Amino acid sequence: MTKIRVGVIGCGKISERASLPNLVNYRDKAEIACLCDIIEERAKALADKFSLKGAEITADWKKLVKRSDLDAVFVNTPNYLHEEIAVGAAENKKHVLVEKPITISLAAAENMIKAARKNKVFLMVEQSHRFNPVHQAAKKVLESGVLGRIHNIRGRIGHAGPEYWSEEKKSWYYEKAKSGGGCMVDIGVHIADLVRWFKGAQVTEVCANIQTLEKKIPVDDNATVMLGFADGAKGEFECSWTTRPYEVLTYCYGDKGKMITSIGSEHPVTVILARDEKNGDPNHPREITYPEFGPGGDWENSIHYFIDCLAQAKTPFVSGEEGRETLKLILAAYESHKTGKWVAIK
Ligand SMILES: NC(=O)c1ccc[n+]([C@@H]2O[C@H](COP(=O)([O-])OP(=O)(O)OC[C@H]3O[C@@H](n4cnc5c(N)ncnc54)[C@H](O)[C@@H]3O)[C@@H](O)[C@H]2O)c1
Repeated sequence: MTKIRVGVIGCGKISERASLPNLVNYRDKAEIACLCDIIEERAKALADKFSLKGAEITADWKKLVKRSDLDAVFVNTPNYLHEEIAVGAAENKKHVLVEKPITISLAAAENMIKAARKNKVFLMVEQSHRFNPVHQAAKKVLESGVLGRIHNIRGRIGHAGPEYWSEEKKSWYYEKAKSGGGCMVDIGVHIADLVRWFKGAQVTEVCANIQTLEKKIPVDDNATVMLGFADGAKGEFECSWTTRPYEVLTYCYGDKGKMITSIGSEHPVTVILARDEKNGDPNHPREITYPEFGPGGDWENSIHYFIDCLAQAKTPFVSGEEGRETLKLILAAYESHKTGKWVAIK
């Protein structure tokens, strides 16, 4: 079988921790042909670390996307560069896996989607939490209908901040012009996307409170966002760069019971069905189950999925359009915080 040939642009932390290890462990199906970083030594260092002897090293992403022997490009740069590079890759007929958030403005997201459509290439957004086996199992529970109608859904993601992810002290993560914002853009986008995907209905309005509670930084480190869905359901998501240790939690409330997911806990997915008229007080559980979940991690599964999509010419389900819908929530939340009002989402 011919391998999918990949070029990776941006050789920082996500490439080191996610993209490269999960391409290398998929070497029967994918090959890293080229590594690019504006700081060329970083690309060289990763090529050495992952023993990528044949890979071309370059500091020029425009040269990389022109290579005729590449099938796909991973866009792993700071957020403000996603648009230009993804559009450049699509214009050169390369499929694109762009890191979350898709980009930092709706106009930029639109340009990326249009370029992919025009050039008939796939654009997938690396909303990796959808690929966590725990979240995949939870999605199946929701689709089974066992919880009844979901009228409320909440999610929370928190960690200690980008300073514990990357050694860089003056990281672009704290520069609004490069990142698009603080924890809202960085990890709010993960939990907003997860809640939206779990519910499977359009978010029509948001109301947000966004703060910098603890860190001495010019962007937000905590946020709470209320959501209204098209079917009348309500929800909420929270994100935090001041939560220790790391957590990802969701709560889905239906008219027959509830489900809780908690990454890393003893029972990462818990489904609690309530008693009903036939068997008593709905304040008490009728049945508690812990659904099984599959192997792998979120990064591993999403990267392998993208490669499989290309090999099978199958459109990835976390499309550019999906990434744009999630970005809408984040941008509307910032607007709501500024105006102090609910903001409608179209
Ligand atoms: N899916 C996830 O769970 C997850 C986790 C962390 C980061 N991310 C995303 O990954 C992306 C990169 O984040 P990171 O933490 O790896 O950042 P990073 O700062 O560690 O790495 C970014 C790299 O891009 C390089 N770069 C900058 N401008 C460039 C250019 N013009 N051409 C080529 N390279 C250039 C930098 O030199 C740096 O090495 C961001 O969009 C971030 O949101 C996703």
